[in-house]
Amino acid sequence: MKIRDSGMPEHDMWAKFFDAKKILVALGFNNKVNDAAEFGCGYGTFTIPAAKMISGKIYALDIEPDMIRMTGEEAKKHKLDNVETTLRDFMAEGSGLPDESVDYVMLFNILHLENPKALLKEAGRILRKDGKMGAIHWNYDPTTPRGPSMDIRPKPEQIIEWAESVGFKFASQHDLKPYHYGLVFEKAKSINKGAA
Ligand SMILES: C[S@@+](CC[C@H](N)C(=O)[O-])C[C@H]1O[C@@H](n2cnc3c(N)ncnc32)[C@H](O)[C@@H]1O
Repeated sequence: MKIRDSGMPEHDMWAKFFDAKKILVALGFNNKVNDAAEFGCGYGTFTIPAAKMISGKIYALDIEPDMIRMTGEEAKKHKLDNVETTLRDFMAEGSGLPDESVDYVMLFNILHLENPKALLKEAGRILRKDGKMGAIHWNYDPTTPRGPSMDIRPKPEQIIEWAESVGFKFASQHDLKPYHYGLVFEKAKSINKGAA
């Protein structure tokens, strides 16, 4: 099950929308993170800079073989051996990662999917105690140059509500100019398995 219209343009254009390292740092991603997971790694825009910042592994999941291939190639190009790519439909099958196995989950430009609470719950399941989840998304603004259609584009307050409803604690909100916002959450309590 693929998510709805991703608004994902070609690689070079996509990369220009972000200062990926700056965004990661703003969202509390740093060398205190050991292992991490990215749900929907796309071109590896964030996977690669994240892999460079940690000593453990980053698990990069995507449903598209081309995205998995490109992220793997980027990792090789940057001589990173801590990027583990997996071709997987995480909505249909979950992440496949064990309970409490990572310190940070990246949900970047993905929460316009049809069952966001199920994905948030899965993120909570694999996070270690005191782990963090970072979410970024296109501003709720029809003038952004790309991004999902407005009827499925979540506002920050909507993501906060979903995340809190599955047991995350909201920590901070960030204006990631020019087109995105970012949210950081902590794992507040045990988050149950299964769909929301
Ligand atoms: C808009 S892109 C975001 C990519 C990356 N997170 C970023 O911000 O640069 C969303 C990605 O999620 C992947 N995706 C969508 N639905 C998925 C699913 N059900 N399981 C795994 N990956 C999925 C798409 O193939 C795409 O690469």
